[in-house]
Amino acid sequence: MNHRFSNTRKTRPNFTKYGAISCYHTEIMCGIFAYIGKPKSIKLALGWLQTLEYRGYDSCGVCFKTKKGLKIIKTVGGVDNLTKQLRTLNGVVSNRIIAHTRWATHGKVSTLNAHPHTSCNNEVAVVHNGIIENFNKIKSKLRNHKFTSQTDTELIAHLVEDEIKKNKSAKDIIKYLYNLIEGSYAIVIFLDSRDEIILLRKDCPLVVGLNNSEIYICSDSQAISNFVNRIIYLHNNTGAIIKENQIRFVNSLGLPVSVQEEAVQKHVENSGNKKYKHHMLHEIFEQENLIYTAINHRLKDLKNDGIIDFSRCSHDALSNVKRIVIFGCGTTYHACLYGSYLMRELLGIHTEAWIASELRYSKYIHSPNTLYIGISQSGETLDTLQIVWSLKERGEKVLGITNSPSSQLAKESDYVILMKAGREIGVAATKTYTAQLLELMFFTMMLAQKQKINTKFYIRPLEKLPAAVSNILKRHDEIRDLAEKFYRHKNYMFIGRKFNVPTAYEGALKLKEITYLHAEGYAGGEMKHGPIALVDKELITFAVAPEDPIFSKIESNISEIKSRGGKIICITTSKQLNTDEMFLIPTNHEFFYPLLCIIPLHLFAYHVADLLGREIDKPRNLAKSVTVE
Ligand code: G6P
Repeated sequence: MNHRFSNTRKTRPNFTKYGAISCYHTEIMCGIFAYIGKPKSIKLALGWLQTLEYRGYDSCGVCFKTKKGLKIIKTVGGVDNLTKQLRTLNGVVSNRIIAHTRWATHGKVSTLNAHPHTSCNNEVAVVHNGIIENFNKIKSKLRNHKFTSQTDTELIAHLVEDEIKKNKSAKDIIKYLYNLIEGSYAIVIFLDSRDEIILLRKDCPLVVGLNNSEIYICSDSQAISNFVNRIIYLHNNTGAIIKENQIRFVNSLGLPVSVQEEAVQKHVENSGNKKYKHHMLHEIFEQENLIYTAINHRLKDLKNDGIIDFSRCSHDALSNVKRIVIFGCGTTYHACLYGSYLMRELLGIHTEAWIASELRYSKYIHSPNTLYIGISQSGETLDTLQIVWSLKERGEKVLGITNSPSSQLAKESDYVILMKAGREIGVAATKTYTAQLLELMFFTMMLAQKQKINTKFYIRPLEKLPAAVSNILKRHDEIRDLAEKFYRHKNYMFIGRKFNVPTAYEGALKLKEITYLHAEGYAGGEMKHGPIALVDKELITFAVAPEDPIFSKIESNISEIKSRGGKIICITTSKQLNTDEMFLIPTNHEFFYPLLCIIPLHLFAYHVADLLGREIDKPRNLAKSVTVE
């Protein structure tokens, strides 16, 4: 086995001496946006920065060149706060703009700690995603500089100021920084006196977009894809120097390197969200079309006896799978868990679902013909990526399922399934969750076809799903009524069995994420082993109880809670169920109920959050893409 790294605090994957799947500490949240070109409105640039808020939104800042030097405006909170501060600057334009949105890791959330950071002479401005691991060591040698923030980023501005005083060229500064700084980073440095911009990248995404004479720099290609023609994904240890709107690329030694320009895949923006109060509600309703399109597309093959086509998945390589390991985080982990139930049931293949951050620290056990499936809607979740990197080093095959074609997961997996859910703006995942369930359903069907398992039986239930989703969404006032009845309660339990254990987990997670109320998800059979002690008239239990082959089991769990005075709301197909409240869903096959049952639960969480006046699309302390360990 080739142990590529030996130090467990490096930023790339490693196998520890115990054989566990790697464990590095790295912090790469936050969003970077920069623009170099003909003068542009600062407000417009802030609009672009706002699209990066999914990477963090606790503070932000912008720096732009003016005739009197660099102007920097920073604030606590999201980009809207920054825009308010800019009211006095209406109509202001600049040809050099760098901006940043932060998710605090080092140094508390404060205006001083927000980026950009500057040198003592205010001539160098820096934005940075990542962590400088040898920050303290370097800082202790910079005694002649005054630090104004608690961040590691500020260090870069002071270091560069010293290099400029020594008349070092941009390529020498790049070489110097790559040699000196340990850690992971994407950095944009603006040298005002020279009107030069320097980029460095190691382990944190950074892309350059080109459009005639305009240059855009961003931590996410999707955010700039609609106004550039070509994109360059900077490789690790590549730097760039931008001067007079020209860009040169160098390696970590400052020597010229060639880079690959890729044609841009235009990104279709969400439309119609103005009709909805929040992005989350819009995204829940978008599922009607998304599910219809996804099912019709995939069903064609199933009906015509063709093997379901997954374009970037080689069928041959998948024909002899003996074990499947699925991993992901948060809501996505719930999709993984669903996938594991389904694959075991339909394929009879040993399948495990793992929380990615747990798999990283578990012993790696090789068994031949194992297929690893990493799922991440963003394709940038660090815990998930670390496993992918580790597995690839071990020569394992990885299938990535993601909603982002340009993500690291899509680029680094052997096989890729692209969910076509469109961009999800609300931090709490909804439509990407159901899209993951759908991809897992059809991927499992495809593996079943390969094993000559008859899949015809599932065509009718799958065909019925889009109408069932429409039916549920049309009755969403019923969920609003339930929310109005119960939103003052502080404690919630969600229970389900088998395929709907993940649904119960997900219902609870969504409620706590966006309402900040206490909610727990449990396998119904576990209630009597502890959680039933919580039951009283204040506790609200959601039971996910479609009439599947083990319906009688969840019925018993419901009775046990009711007989102890607990309040029950059932998501069910049975009008006969003995419950306080119910939301009826159309009947289907047990495999597919999770897709239907989760929609009322997501809607319930939404309406409770709305009634409580929460900031639904940007819940406190969360971020959409979690690129930290
Ligand atoms: C964050 C988001 C969740 C998401 C999880 C995994 O916690 O707030 O909505 O489920 O990350 O994200 P991924 O992009 O890997 O699916």
